[in-house]
Amino acid sequence: MLKEISPHGGRLTNRLFRGKERKDLEKKAKGLKKIILNEREISELEMIATGCFSPLEGFLTQEDYISVIDNLRLKNGLVWTIPISLSATKEEIKYLKENKPVALSNGKEILGILHLKQIYTYDKKKEAQLVYKTTDPAHPGVAYLFSQGEFLLGGKISLINPPKHKEFSEYWFSPAQTRKLFKERGWERIVGFQTRNPIHRAHEFIIKTALEICDGLFLNPLVGETRKTDIPADVRMACYKILIDKYFPKERVLMGVYGAAMRYAGPREAILHALVRKNFGCTHFIVGRDHAGVGNFYKPFEAQEIFDEFSPEEIGITPLFFENAFFCRHCGGMATVKTCPHPEEEHFSLSGTKVRELLASGEIPPLEFTRPEIANILMEWFKQNR
Ligand code: ADX
Repeated sequence: MLKEISPHGGRLTNRLFRGKERKDLEKKAKGLKKIILNEREISELEMIATGCFSPLEGFLTQEDYISVIDNLRLKNGLVWTIPISLSATKEEIKYLKENKPVALSNGKEILGILHLKQIYTYDKKKEAQLVYKTTDPAHPGVAYLFSQGEFLLGGKISLINPPKHKEFSEYWFSPAQTRKLFKERGWERIVGFQTRNPIHRAHEFIIKTALEICDGLFLNPLVGETRKTDIPADVRMACYKILIDKYFPKERVLMGVYGAAMRYAGPREAILHALVRKNFGCTHFIVGRDHAGVGNFYKPFEAQEIFDEFSPEEIGITPLFFENAFFCRHCGGMATVKTCPHPEEEHFSLSGTKVRELLASGEIPPLEFTRPEIANILMEWFKQNR
């Protein structure tokens, strides 16, 4: 019997309703007051309903919200580091009442129901400082938070019409599905990899190093909302596909998308990312340099250090920490300071800004930084979008 890692909190949430239950809920939803969700809120609704955010069953109520931002835990003590909350404006709450369900819509159709338990106010500056460690609106996570409505709506959700994913349709899996696929492949030790960038040589190096001690890789690129300056998901997906095809043993890789938005919350988001991958069934999770970071808001290894605040048992999934990886010209290969004795002058790496500058001047990023197939995709994209 293959061993399987337990989901966070012990049970996968399933709030996606089908068949008769769905029909009944849909009928009920038609008579309810309605709120319209934005793209990020829709993705969170889906993450909750399909079990990615287990044990959550809805948007946080006040006690959980406060406990998460103050103590990095739900009020029952389970580790949870990022508030998954639903905001509403003063205008919107005029029509809402606690303990009265609300229909959740995307503006065209009803997606589900919020079994509204609480309407509460919150302190955005406090959340920004505690979750993002800054109140600077130049931080994209903070900017989003400051743009939210003044109230939060807490309560369980029911999803009845899940978003239709025309893009990357064959790569959308629920945690129940990935767990089944891992079992079918006979994988017991599975390493999860979060990414919001094309996979460059440094990423490839750390993934392959991890794969040396695992049975399979769950490549789980984030395709939810990202900053405008990040490379769009469709371009990245083209990069991932070609990389798997040309540089990985395909039978040891499963690629599936992670539909949530990027928060850029560095350390706190690294914990969330690890817990979500545990829910998908991964036993190990890669945390490298400046995981989920942005600009200079976090120290390079802060996202690793935060794991010390918890016991391994309460996180459940094993983090695999990596030093900054680079190409060493002297070694003639990828390395980190843990394995390479040569001076910094021999080490080659590029910042995102530098890559964009190269592309802008029509120069293909070098082999030491990225595989030529990926460089070509990026060049094509840059030419079309310049
Ligand atoms: S992230 O926002 O999803 O973390 P990115 O896609 O760049 O951004 O990184 C994916 C993972 O690779 C993260 O765990 C990150 O820490 C790690 N990583 C990225 N670049 C390096 C590097 N040069 N050395 C070590 N780890 C890295």
